[in-house]
Amino acid sequence: MKPFIRTTGCGAISQEHVEKRITLCGWVNRRRDHGNLIFIDLRDRSGLMQIVFDPAHAPQAHTSAEQIRNEYVISVTGMVQERLTGTNNPDLSTGNWELHVDEITILNTAKTLPFQLDEGSRVDEELRLRYRYLDLRRPEIMQHLALRHAIVATMRQQLYQENFYEIETPILTKNTAEGAREFLVPSRNLRGSWYALPQSPQIYKQLLMASGMERYFQIARCFRDEDLRADRQPEFTQLDMELSFVTEADVMDVIERLITRIFKEHKQQEITLPLPRMDFETAIQKYGSDKPDLRFALEITDISNVFADTTISFLKNTLSASGQIGALCVKNHAFSRSELEQWVSKAQQNGAKGLLWIRYQEDKIDAPVAKFLPEDLVQRVQKEIPDFTIGDTLFIMAGAFDETWEQLGRLRVQFGHALRLIDQTKTSLFWVVNFPMFEYNHDAKRWAARHHPFTAPQGEWEQMEMKDIKARAYDLVLNGVELGGGSIRIHDAATQSKIFSRIDLDQEEMQRHFGFLLEAQELGFPPHGGIALGLDRLIMLLTGANSIREVIAFPKTQSGADPMLQAPTPVDAKKLIEYGIKKV
Ligand code: AMO
Repeated sequence: MKPFIRTTGCGAISQEHVEKRITLCGWVNRRRDHGNLIFIDLRDRSGLMQIVFDPAHAPQAHTSAEQIRNEYVISVTGMVQERLTGTNNPDLSTGNWELHVDEITILNTAKTLPFQLDEGSRVDEELRLRYRYLDLRRPEIMQHLALRHAIVATMRQQLYQENFYEIETPILTKNTAEGAREFLVPSRNLRGSWYALPQSPQIYKQLLMASGMERYFQIARCFRDEDLRADRQPEFTQLDMELSFVTEADVMDVIERLITRIFKEHKQQEITLPLPRMDFETAIQKYGSDKPDLRFALEITDISNVFADTTISFLKNTLSASGQIGALCVKNHAFSRSELEQWVSKAQQNGAKGLLWIRYQEDKIDAPVAKFLPEDLVQRVQKEIPDFTIGDTLFIMAGAFDETWEQLGRLRVQFGHALRLIDQTKTSLFWVVNFPMFEYNHDAKRWAARHHPFTAPQGEWEQMEMKDIKARAYDLVLNGVELGGGSIRIHDAATQSKIFSRIDLDQEEMQRHFGFLLEAQELGFPPHGGIALGLDRLIMLLTGANSIREVIAFPKTQSGADPMLQAPTPVDAKKLIEYGIKKV
């Protein structure tokens, strides 16, 4: 192989290169043989450049080019020329020029790829992930990673400017009781003992505050053994931070400065500060979600009053069991009967018990239960939803508040997408505050911390019932996705122990799990608070990708597997014995 010296990137060619001799290296994106002339689109990370082989000009190079196939890796040297008028390609940043090659070196050949790169997102995802290094050659995905890189650089610059220290924390650690299931790692040295991979650096970053670091951040890898979704991976990355001597407003200010800079520099978009704040209760009441998408207006309304004297049995039963009746009013949309039935099935697939629709038509009220509805239904509904008019359809669910509103919230988002109610040009970015401190886990039949048990409670909480205690926590929501969450923490051992007791940890459990933290809280722990932003989610939202898998170099499939390396794998019995997991 001849030595090669790349003088510029394919996508970096401009007018200044005309009549200059340059050397490019890259992959053959496409080859077109026009009899005499051979054209190749050469690709590298910076873009595409058209290169031309003319047998009259360089016969040897032309002969070599005849053997070349897609995805060969080549190095070419020649003169940059302006393209003939009419042959320019306005879709390409280098579309006004071409390289007239006189020397070529084939650096490596390539067999036919398992999928065509330009078929990209239409290719089965499993196959794409199996050959992820090929998938990553697609400019679209490469751009996602380029943006990710640039945003991380901005984060670092901004936080260095604001006097944060970047500090790494361990990956082999211990259960932090943050809620999700952990990945466990057996210890060979300490047989029978297991490390846990961190769900987040939560405890370490608090301990860094105890050690006087004052401002910490980390681009931190986190691990959670959860059911996966489009915005969830078993390992993901957070921009994690913690600050001493702060209140909620200080933490929120740091994030607001950072996020506006990111939007300005990477989306050329101005965000108005301060960001709006919404109470958790309002979010649930109006949108059935603690991360509502406010790019569309559809709201949930409590219409229990409309049916106070109803004879419709499921509504009547709901009200007598202290349940509530909620409605989404979809405005001015002509649903067909079969569409309405599809929405009912969709709600049921979501887990709802049922969905009742009522359409307000020109000449009548149409509903499966029409004959049981009161004469003055429209007036009654208008008391709750003043702009209820002809052409509107109510979608109604009845039941216990929490689950019914959650179901309506889910349906709201589905309507938003299906009926194109979402204004894609808008950005909905705001804080949700005043979260409940605890939530009841019906399966485990116990109370748990809603954020994590290191979060400080608000105000005079000690006399309050579990359901009424609020947390000093805040979430950042972007376009209906929880982008980040954090809180002011407990910094004294007495409060910490009381909160642990509230979630039914006895003294022995507290000591076993969190003895080190309680001890630290008695050794000069400053007041502190922090937050973590989901980096993958941020990049997904900024690129418009429909899954975080599209913005992670080597993601796992929906079932948590890596089809490329074929991980996870079974382990030999011999290894298991070595780790003390299996008996000899
Ligand atoms: P939390 O659990 O809310 O808080 O996580 C913070 C942010 O991390 C992102 N995230 C995820 N991203 C991808 N896949 C996942 N499985 C996943 N889980 C969470 C979300 C989320 O908002 N230690 C606390 C933060 C703190 O209190 O400072 C924590 O981890 O964007």
